[in-house]
Amino acid sequence: MTIHFIGAGPGAPDLITLRGRDLIASSPVCLYAGSLVPQALLAHCPPGAKIINTAPLSLDEIIAELAAAHALGQDVARLHSGDLSVWSAMGEQLRRLRALNIPYDVTPGVPSFAAAAAALATELTLPGLTQSVVLTRTSGRATAMPEKESLHAFAATGATLAIHLSVHVLEKVVADLTPHYGPDCPVAVVWRASWPDERIVRATLATLQTAIGAEMERTALILVGPALAAEGFEESRLYAGDYDRRFRPVGTEPRFPDAK
Ligand SMILES: C[S@@+](CC[C@H](N)C(=O)[O-])C[C@H]1O[C@@H](n2cnc3c(N)ncnc32)[C@H](O)[C@@H]1O
Repeated sequence: MTIHFIGAGPGAPDLITLRGRDLIASSPVCLYAGSLVPQALLAHCPPGAKIINTAPLSLDEIIAELAAAHALGQDVARLHSGDLSVWSAMGEQLRRLRALNIPYDVTPGVPSFAAAAAALATELTLPGLTQSVVLTRTSGRATAMPEKESLHAFAATGATLAIHLSVHVLEKVVADLTPHYGPDCPVAVVWRASWPDERIVRATLATLQTAIGAEMERTALILVGPALAAEGFEESRLYAGDYDRRFRPVGTEPRFPDAK
């Protein structure tokens, strides 16, 4: 018996791994995290499965459900939106399960920042421009940001920022970022990436507020940085004609002369 933690992806029901889908299909119990997990994924549950929306439950109640399934020897599919490595509340559940000696495993999912970048058809790391992506958020009612992890600190690097859980404080986000990136820096907001009602606004830091208007939906990601609208970046050396590499040795004295 195992509790299978499964990344359910950003919204489109076919953006789940085959492993995740198969684990749902083989587990007689399924706990899923509210409205961000697409209902269509629950169709993979076996007939008669016990299906529980954990949105209204406390951590104690969730653990009680997992322990009850464990006592019956039943596998559980535990679904969280996107990937489980960020903002999933998986850590606290795993700690409780370790204390109870209940076995678990983890199957990754497509994170929302990747779905948003795909919706924008954008590579977030471009040669000579930026080579880092910071996944971050701003303080919320339930979670304060550690002092050193301010938007100012991350923006000072010039990296691409993927700012989660923050579209409701857009004005402050723009105010914090502008001194570092400048008013002309490209920015995009993607609401409900990969859902049927996905919406995208591209703008600059200076024009973003006007471009968005009175949008209220909160499931959105803010992506900012020069990579978002760059055309004048360098090409990757990896595919340059004169670049000597294992699968394409070149020159009179290649570094990998015997490579096949
Ligand atoms: C609690 S976090 C969950 C993050 C998730 N574990 C992941 O891998 O992306 C919820 C936040 O993720 C972002 N998010 C989740 N799904 C999204 C989607 N389909 N489109 C845009 N942003 C999304 C939003 O910023 C939202 O406020």
